[in-house]
Amino acid sequence: MAAVNPVTGAIAGLQKWIHDRAPGLDAAYRKHVSEYMAPKNFNTWYFFGSLALLVLVNQIVTGIFLTMHYKPSAAEAFQSVEYIMRDVDWGWLIRYMHSTGASFFFIVVFLHMFRALIYGSYQKPRELVWVIGVAIFLVLMAEAFLGYVLPWGQMSFWGAQVITSLFGAIPFVGESLVEWIRGDYVIADATLNRFFALHVIALPLVLLLLVVLHLGALHEVGSNNPDGIDIKKLKDANGKPLDGIPFHPYYTIKDLFGAGFFLTLFFFVVFFAPLFGGKFLEYDNFVPANPMVTPEHIKPVWYFTPYYAMLRAVPDKLGGVIVMGAAVLILFVLPWLDRAPVRSYRYRPLASKLILAGFVVAFVYLGYAGYQPASPGLTLLAQIATVYYFAFFIFMPWWSKLGHFKPVPERVTMHD
Ligand code: HEM
Repeated sequence: MAAVNPVTGAIAGLQKWIHDRAPGLDAAYRKHVSEYMAPKNFNTWYFFGSLALLVLVNQIVTGIFLTMHYKPSAAEAFQSVEYIMRDVDWGWLIRYMHSTGASFFFIVVFLHMFRALIYGSYQKPRELVWVIGVAIFLVLMAEAFLGYVLPWGQMSFWGAQVITSLFGAIPFVGESLVEWIRGDYVIADATLNRFFALHVIALPLVLLLLVVLHLGALHEVGSNNPDGIDIKKLKDANGKPLDGIPFHPYYTIKDLFGAGFFLTLFFFVVFFAPLFGGKFLEYDNFVPANPMVTPEHIKPVWYFTPYYAMLRAVPDKLGGVIVMGAAVLILFVLPWLDRAPVRSYRYRPLASKLILAGFVVAFVYLGYAGYQPASPGLTLLAQIATVYYFAFFIFMPWWSKLGHFKPVPERVTMHD
């Protein structure tokens, strides 16, 4: 009989010890990892879910280290960030990993959402996965906004000023609400303190919970794929989907490759262009907050600019706030707006593809417009793009059914 390797023996012993005390743990591992059958045709678009997880971990770990040296008070916050950058060992790296991570979070999540859009991943039976995803997106936006206030630079202060004052547009309760949010008549120490509490503990907890629910909901119904085919329809004699492969080791290896590629790009930015031309960290934010001096051009960070452009496109303040909020909230009902008989855009008519392309153009343009100082020409185009953005969703029940759909194959296809 071959001798048992002491290391594998010890691991097997430990596994048995854990199994005897918590049999549910390895059942969960099997359900979610080693026996989770994922479609075998995942392509590049399917990297972004695991990358979003990676960035989330990066934000939490670097955030914990930043919190060790940061001072959440109006008198000390700016200096404490400078101290982290100059005096704390590796502080510059931790801070830039956190600030670059925020922008990369949005890049990854936008691409992740777009993947769901083009492959119809929000359609039945994955509505809940999508709805939880939109909730994640909302919390992520709040988390990023609160984080940007913490360095207490000019953009932190004036950004907080603009965003909190938006609540003042709400009839009757608006002004009291603004005061309640700020904890003072103006943006002040009390505001910074509560934003810190929300940023470092409350919202990260909510975010983590939502991510667990997001994956739990996904693993109940199984992943979609670029063909939008239900792989559970065709099974082998053992009841395993013919077009499915176990998540581990196949996709753990694939995702590791994606993570390597992503981290190369990420650290290139961290080391060589952490401000990214003033887009990831704005130049005005290297000037301490000063309530007496308004920056020449107040604008949010790039990932908020599409929504900021919509806010500015509406002449009325309350109207602008409603349009901006509706632009995100409308995503919640997307699964019930799409009436196409197929999931993936691969099998949808050319007209549908063009309508989707128009949506991407409108959204990217809004992102550009929101970054520029307002001008009549820019505003007019932003108004057109805003109308297109909403028309895309509002008329979807009608246009998504039109045209000639290609037949969806029985088995998944392997081209990209
Ligand atoms: C912290 C942010 C997020 C994390 C960590 C995350 C994580 C994941 C992971 C790991 C998967 C499975 C792998 C994959 O399909 O790529 C997934 C799937 C999915 N996510 Fe997310 N997600 C996040 C945000 C979002 C958002 C904002 C949305 C939409 C609004 C969304 C919608 C979906 C959908 C529809 C699927 C199923 C895709 C399919 O099976 O084709 N997720 N997510």
